[in-house]
Amino acid sequence: MGEHLGAAALEGKRDAIVGRTLRWWDRARRTLPWRALPGETPDPYRVWLSEVLLQQTTVQAVMPYYRTFLERWPTVEALAAAPHEAVISAFAGLGYYTRARNLHACAKSVAAAGGRFPSDEAALRALPGVGAYTAAAIAAIAFDRQAAPVDGNIARIVARLIALEAPIATSRSTIAEAARALAPACRAGDFAQALMDIGATICRPRNPDCAACPLRGDCAAFRSGAPESYPRKGAVKPKPQRIGAVFFAHRADWAFLVRRRPPKGLLASTVELPGTPWTGDGPGAGWADHAPVAARWRRLPGTVEQVFTHFALSLVVYAAPCDRAAPDRCFWVAPDEIDEAGFSNVMRKAALHARASVEVEWAS
Ligand code: ADE
Repeated sequence: MGEHLGAAALEGKRDAIVGRTLRWWDRARRTLPWRALPGETPDPYRVWLSEVLLQQTTVQAVMPYYRTFLERWPTVEALAAAPHEAVISAFAGLGYYTRARNLHACAKSVAAAGGRFPSDEAALRALPGVGAYTAAAIAAIAFDRQAAPVDGNIARIVARLIALEAPIATSRSTIAEAARALAPACRAGDFAQALMDIGATICRPRNPDCAACPLRGDCAAFRSGAPESYPRKGAVKPKPQRIGAVFFAHRADWAFLVRRRPPKGLLASTVELPGTPWTGDGPGAGWADHAPVAARWRRLPGTVEQVFTHFALSLVVYAAPCDRAAPDRCFWVAPDEIDEAGFSNVMRKAALHARASVEVEWAS
């Protein structure tokens, strides 16, 4: 395997690559709720909203969230004026909660400045929650600026186009430079979205459908005969394990005690079962000190597992019946409120696991 193709060589082929990509896009583009139809002017609010919701997740997962957000808050001013907890709750389940906080902060900042999103990348980057990728995506898609957003899918396409021998994680600047060398002066937004669609439907991580790809003839990985072997893999570092305990205090009607997490930090402002801190050694002998009420706690079988960006979590679950008033900083959630209460994925899973385990105990 030789040196990868440089940005200069790629730039020489830009017009041909862009032409083939846009012809494919005009024929095969996906219709997505946030996309302007051909001939329509994109709404920067919708473009921004979709890009923020799509960070770190899939189109499929985002669809219902996007619809809910747009229905409840059709403009940036409406979103800015929404109660903070309503925005956090509408976002819950989509993943990283700092994003929900930044989403609201960004809407407020744009609304306070007159309701218009800036169109250049540097000004966009200054907004809360708008990083290099999102700024470039909004500049290109909403304002047709010559910008080159690079998300995971686009990085994979570029790594294959140039047959990059180093893993993506250690070649961010090489990939960004190659992507910039390709970005066209005209229809940069269509080009970026075409790459997103190619990445999602054709240039897949495994089993790429090279026969359907408009870039096959330009692709050094395809020419190598082993396109799937790109991007090259780096060493995978195992994630540290943390362990915690949560408490399922339930009434006879299955309402249970919850509390809201602090507004800063991991899973900020989401609703959770009360519990211990999550540590490498687990809660140890003092676990009951963290229970929301004094009760005859018993450990339920199994654990609830969740993998976060920087660690893997294993939660032990304790349960006890409880019919007292909710203690300080806790409140009751009824079973039919679980979907709207603003739980994180892991805590929703823990609450459902707890109830199912108690029902099994009672049935046996
Ligand atoms: N992923 C990130 N942004 C996207 C977009 N605008 N369309 C499709 N997939 C995306």
